[in-house]
Formats: sequence, structure tokens, C-alpha cells
Amino acid sequence: MRRKIAAGNWKMNTLLNEGVTLAEELNTLLDGIELYDDKRVVIAVPYTHISSIINVVDYKKIAVAAQNCSQFDNGAYTGEISALMLKSIGVQYIIVGHSERRQIFGETDDIVSQKLTQCYKNAIFPILCCGESLNERESVKHLEIVGTQIKNALQNVDTFNIQRTIIAYEPIWAIGTGRTATPEQAQEMHAHIRNTIADLYTKEIANEITILYGGSVNAANSANLFAKEDIDGGLVGGASLKVNEFMQIIESL
Ligand code: 13P
Repeated sequence: MRRKIAAGNWKMNTLLNEGVTLAEELNTLLDGIELYDDKRVVIAVPYTHISSIINVVDYKKIAVAAQNCSQFDNGAYTGEISALMLKSIGVQYIIVGHSERRQIFGETDDIVSQKLTQCYKNAIFPILCCGESLNERESVKHLEIVGTQIKNALQNVDTFNIQRTIIAYEPIWAIGTGRTATPEQAQEMHAHIRNTIADLYTKEIANEITILYGGSVNAANSANLFAKEDIDGGLVGGASLKVNEFMQIIESL
């Protein structure tokens, strides 16, 4: 089902006490807000914080996500965390294939595809990230690059599981730079992603997919981005660490 989602990606920020306080504050601020099934607030917090935060937030208001998971089931993979482990502590969403994981940790489209499989096996909603570099945009290859990322990631995804997948378009040049894609640039890419999904599956399925925009989303630009036809919300980094600003972004949904 296509939903409006405001998702915060805290990345590797906050100590446990700070993260719990931030989540509690958000939970309190959301008291006055009606969130129906078609609108969701998600926070992707560090692994170390997940259990504590799940205990202090109302699950009807805030879903807790992980920022990554292993592509493997279990076994001799020192330092890795499986999707099943995350499921066992109440995680509902996992960010998969964030550009920071692709660029810094060498995640390939194949690894991303395996991580998606782990999410589906454990009934967790993946938030599948895609996005082009500045160089790729400047050489006008952005639509092709993102289209290929989506096709490769979804290579083993059937019609049932695609409907449990959230996509986040995050142009790399907009992440943490203060340089947001214009609503028109983002809309163009979101429509392209939806068309790619329509080609791979059906138009009806493509219309039901939630596609988020990420990259320097803040309280000042979120309403204009979210007003676009194919933009169903945001995946917010830096601004999700400031509770009042994140609330304004949620309200602009
Ligand atoms: P910023 O909002 O800090 O640019 O980060 C975006 C992002 O990477 C969210 O996943």
C-alpha cells in the first residue's frame, strides 16, 4: 500500500542516552498528531539503541528501523547482524543499499539484492536506496544509472515482495551537502523509478509503491518536495537529529 512516510536516518550519531532522549521527545511531540495507517514515522537508529528505543516509543506512532543488515542467515560472520536478529527485537524496517554502504563499504547490487531477500524472509520492510553521483548527473546518465540500480536490486523480487518494498531516491550529491535536488529534479527521477517498476511488474503495482526522497531534506524544503505527485515522503539524515525540525518535516507530510 502506498503510504506517506517520514523516515529519519540517524546514521552513526548519538550515544545511547542521547538517542533514547531524542526518541522520547519525538514520541511526546507526536502525541497531538493523528497518524493513520496511510502515514508513518520511522526512525532508523544505531543497532546499539534499537531495543532501548523500541521500549520507550509507542509502536503505533513510531516504527523503529535498522540502517543495515547482513546478507547472510547466520554463522561465522564476525561483526555482522542478521535480519532475523533484528526481527527478534522488533525491527519493522531496514535501510538497504544506502549510498554510504555502497561507496564506503563496497556493497554491490548483488549484495543489496541478497539483503532484500533477508528482509523478505523475515517479514521486514526494506527501504531500498538508490541514487546517482554528481558526475553521473552532470553527464546526464542519472536516469539510466538509477534505473539499472533498481533493476539489479529487484532481480529476484517477485510481485508479492515488491509490494512490501519502499524505495528511497537519494542523489549522492545531495546527501549531507545542504544541496537538495529541486522538487522538479526529484519528481523526474521518482516518475522514472515508478515507470521502471511498471515495466518490471505492472502499472497498478508501481502506483502502490512508496518512493521517498532523501538528500538535505529540511523543514524549509520538505513541503515543496512532498507536494510532488510521485514523492511520498522523505528519508531524512541530519535534520532528523533535531526533534523540532523533524516534527516540522512530519507535519509537512
Ligand atoms: P541528509 O539529510 O543529512 O542529507 O542525509 C540524507 C540521507 O543520507 C538519509 O539516508
